[in-house]
Amino acid sequence: MIKFDESGLDKTLPSGAIDKFIADNKKIITEVLAGQYGMADALGWFKVAENTGAPLMEKIRVKAAEIKRDADVFILAGVGGSNRAAQSVIEGMEYHRKGKPKILYMGNTLSANEINNCLESFEGKSVYANIIAKNFATLEPALAFRVIRSWMNKKYGPSYSSRITVTGSYGKGQLADIAQSNGYSFFEFPAAVGGRFSAFTAVGLLPMAVMGADIEGFVRGGLNSELRLKSGAKSDAGGHESVRYAAARHLLRQKGFTAEAFSYFEPSLQMLARWWLQLHGETEGKNTQAVLPTMSCFSEDLHAIGQYYQEGGRFFFETFLDFFKPKKINLPASAWDDGLSYLEGKSLDCLNPAVSKATSDAHYGAGVPVLKFSADKVDEETIGEFMYMQMLSTYFSAAFLGVEPFDQNGVESYKRNLARELTFAT
Ligand code: PA5
Repeated sequence: MIKFDESGLDKTLPSGAIDKFIADNKKIITEVLAGQYGMADALGWFKVAENTGAPLMEKIRVKAAEIKRDADVFILAGVGGSNRAAQSVIEGMEYHRKGKPKILYMGNTLSANEINNCLESFEGKSVYANIIAKNFATLEPALAFRVIRSWMNKKYGPSYSSRITVTGSYGKGQLADIAQSNGYSFFEFPAAVGGRFSAFTAVGLLPMAVMGADIEGFVRGGLNSELRLKSGAKSDAGGHESVRYAAARHLLRQKGFTAEAFSYFEPSLQMLARWWLQLHGETEGKNTQAVLPTMSCFSEDLHAIGQYYQEGGRFFFETFLDFFKPKKINLPASAWDDGLSYLEGKSLDCLNPAVSKATSDAHYGAGVPVLKFSADKVDEETIGEFMYMQMLSTYFSAAFLGVEPFDQNGVESYKRNLARELTFAT
């Protein structure tokens, strides 16, 4: 089970401040726990069981097995919330390094160079794709889809359609419609679930399953998290980590800590950190009181932004993700003194926990408020547990800020400008 540690706030917040905040905000907390805050038609993620019923799980398993069997390359095409949950699990559990298919990400960039690199790497391979878009008007996946199907059509002829699975919405011009006209396999992007809340739907689960992830374990983690957090919140006046984390972030922001540094140690968890960043950034970043989420991978970034964290501006707090992967590798002996003899006989997996302790002590000592999430194992179940906990927490955060959690209207400004630029450019 994941543990949350808020003891590193003791120099910043008065003792009992989080309990008081929770007691003072009972009404809004009750509203959130009943799923009564924000757009009512966007709460399809709130109950994990709703999008993970046995028939859908079976359909995902069957399709995933077929793609896994026949594909050398599997393209996951989607952007924003439509690809990050799957990427978090695939890379977090390192399925991208294990056997076939090789995974390629498309539909997440407008870089002609990257698109070309992908096309080049298709040559001589059996290529399958999952195109994901809740609203097929999103430029990145729509563009990638056209490039992919044109390449496939040339390569495989009309039977290429059996290589495409789309995950999208119903309606004119949406992927359900396109799938029906072209014979593509189709999974529904549930209408009541937004991209960044879509981990426990076919959006996240199909690509995870194709790459060999334990989707039952992942769903179990989310489900257990949901049941525990919801029941804990009702029975325990002090709340649980989702509400306490949101309360802590809110109180810290009020004290002038306007940014959050999310620090993780396993490089393979980079996509999980990016998922976290998108979840909080796009859900909460709607008024000037929202915390700016940022991320760093230690120990590498201790040799970069770590200097700033230690001695720079005191306007941020730090959340440590103490998720470590044990692997026995003993330091080999050396014929000459390289200064590392104190590590001889130790397994290298003692390093990251020590780096976390050393760093959090150093930053805390320098006045940085510190929060920690820790887990005793990293697997699909733990990632599922973490994701549901964070989704519920950002929902609380949005409610404390008084913003709508489930839209992202701010994104439209750049889209309008881009349309103008591209129209003039032609
Ligand atoms: O979280 C969200 O809702 C967004 O980040 C979307 O996932 C992103 O904009 C992509 O949208 P779509 O799936 O419609 O292409």
